[in-house]
Amino acid sequence: MGKISAAITGVGQYLPDYLLTNDELSRMVDTSDEWITSHTGIKTRHILKADGVGTSYMGARAVQNLLDKTGIDPMEVDVVICATITPDMFFPSTGNLIADQAGCKNAFAYDVSAACSGFLFALTTGAKYIEAGTSKKVVVVGADKMSSIIDYTDRTTCPLFGDGAAAVLLEPNTEGLGLVDSILRSDGSGELQLYMKAGGSRYPASIETVQNNWHTITWDGPAIFKAAVSKMSDVSVEIMEKHNLTGEDVRFLVPHQANLRIIDATARRMGIGKEKCMINIDRNGNTTAATIPTCLYDYEKELRPGDNLILSAFGGGYTWGAIYLKWAYDGSKSCQLGAGEE
Ligand code: ACO
Repeated sequence: MGKISAAITGVGQYLPDYLLTNDELSRMVDTSDEWITSHTGIKTRHILKADGVGTSYMGARAVQNLLDKTGIDPMEVDVVICATITPDMFFPSTGNLIADQAGCKNAFAYDVSAACSGFLFALTTGAKYIEAGTSKKVVVVGADKMSSIIDYTDRTTCPLFGDGAAAVLLEPNTEGLGLVDSILRSDGSGELQLYMKAGGSRYPASIETVQNNWHTITWDGPAIFKAAVSKMSDVSVEIMEKHNLTGEDVRFLVPHQANLRIIDATARRMGIGKEKCMINIDRNGNTTAATIPTCLYDYEKELRPGDNLILSAFGGGYTWGAIYLKWAYDGSKSCQLGAGEE
């Protein structure tokens, strides 16, 4: 038997139906559709408005959509890993809640926290269970309710982010399809350039932390922008060179959707044209851990077995990385079930 690799064999998604437009944001803070579009590429973002529900609500619906599309019984799932920085609660893990709500009662589940690179870190981890032969069906979810940690009076952050969830199924493949390689990096010295100060063990929630507005995202946008451009490009080129890939060999770049200008810069360094970039930032904004799997969901119909994909991300921490994978199934034949929206 050939070497076992972990192949993506299905994609599901859930996006809340409320669309926050640039025009609505322009009535909330001093900004404009023209500024947001020209500086970020974002036009709309989905927001989860329902009371008393968090990230697991979206993650569970994405997993249900995935299982419906693939026809997999939830009881067959061995592992559920959720990448998120907006867990429902510190504990139990959001992965645990998602597994329960989606009926994956035989699975063990946990969370991975790596901000916008979370899905790459979780996918790499999930693949190891398949490659080791210990699991046959691993679900990897990227889900974030960014609206829960955004200050909607801060024009420098509130236009950027949206809510959403998407999930992939990993199964064993012995035909050389699936995850080929991943390069993951982190650097905690970037901590203060993108973070949420309070609510953890260093500054537990208090009247003071609330009054100081320490429970929302704080960042140095331009510094993050520069780091994202250089590190996302470097690691994408590094994984291509390691595998002797040219721009011609790559079917799609699947980039984290933080800013259209970061995506353009990365694609240029990789020597690939815009037509090979998966893009949904215009509709979804930055959904943090969900950006890469939502792109796979949107472009699934165009994917064929053997297509070379480079997944690439940069996020808070810092965290960054790239994955090289060979697509494993004919996406045009994928079941149409469920658009994933309410
Ligand atoms: N509307 C109008 N003006 C604005 C807005 C807004 N929404 N936001 C900022 N401005 C103003 C600024 O105040 C500044 O004005 P000034 O020159 O008078 O001071 C001017 O526009 C230019 O601001 P910059 O910050 O230099 O604008 P820039 O072109 O760099 O775009 C942006 C800012 C979009 C935030 C960009 O820096 C960016 O995309 N940053 C990184 C995003 C990223 O990498 N995210 C990945 C990680 S996210 C994660 O891990 C959770």
